[in-house]
Amino acid sequence: MKKIMIVSTNAHKIVEFKQMLEPLGFEVSSLKDLDETADIEENGTTFQENARIKADYIRDHCQMMAIADDSGLEIDALNKEPGIHSARYLGHDTDYTYKNTVILKRLENETNRTARFVSAIALAIPNQETKVFTGIMEGEIAYHIAGENGFGYDPIFYLTEYGCTSAELTPEKKNEISHRGKALQQVLAYLKESGL
Ligand code: IMP
Repeated sequence: MKKIMIVSTNAHKIVEFKQMLEPLGFEVSSLKDLDETADIEENGTTFQENARIKADYIRDHCQMMAIADDSGLEIDALNKEPGIHSARYLGHDTDYTYKNTVILKRLENETNRTARFVSAIALAIPNQETKVFTGIMEGEIAYHIAGENGFGYDPIFYLTEYGCTSAELTPEKKNEISHRGKALQQVLAYLKESGL
């Protein structure tokens, strides 16, 4: 059976990738299955570089296929912050209601509210060049927090087309239109068309 490792300890991400990869005949493991903790230095300057660093690390250390993602929110009026620092912005363990409130405050008098979620997914295969796929969901920073679904910055991410935040979408709808959903679809198409 084809083996692949998800370079993550995030239970939600592992499930999402498993659901996609198992029907293609992959035996899926994750960082949680490693005996030692992988000390991967994410020192890239873009989502794509960080995803590649994580996937290449496991491919080289474990001699197996690896898939890794990196994602975040870019706000144009804040010079694309929090960007690659999205998870640790204002502190890794800081509550998102606080983080979102701070962002709304920083944008209080700002009319340019354009923003996007970006997801880069890297697929590293032994003896092959690593492939990186990018998915983007464009939107705006809302004026108020709204919605209970999703996670992170979803309650302040307004989708003009749907007239609501991404935290007000059903999980199914969000998966269909999200940055991660779009990147995942590209990975899936690549795996299928290359017969992997
Ligand atoms: P990663 O897990 O290192 O890729 O960090 C991604 C961070 O970006 C998360 O911790 C969130 O803060 C933010 N983020 C990424 N995708 C989403 C999303 O779909 N909704 C809300 N926040 C997101």
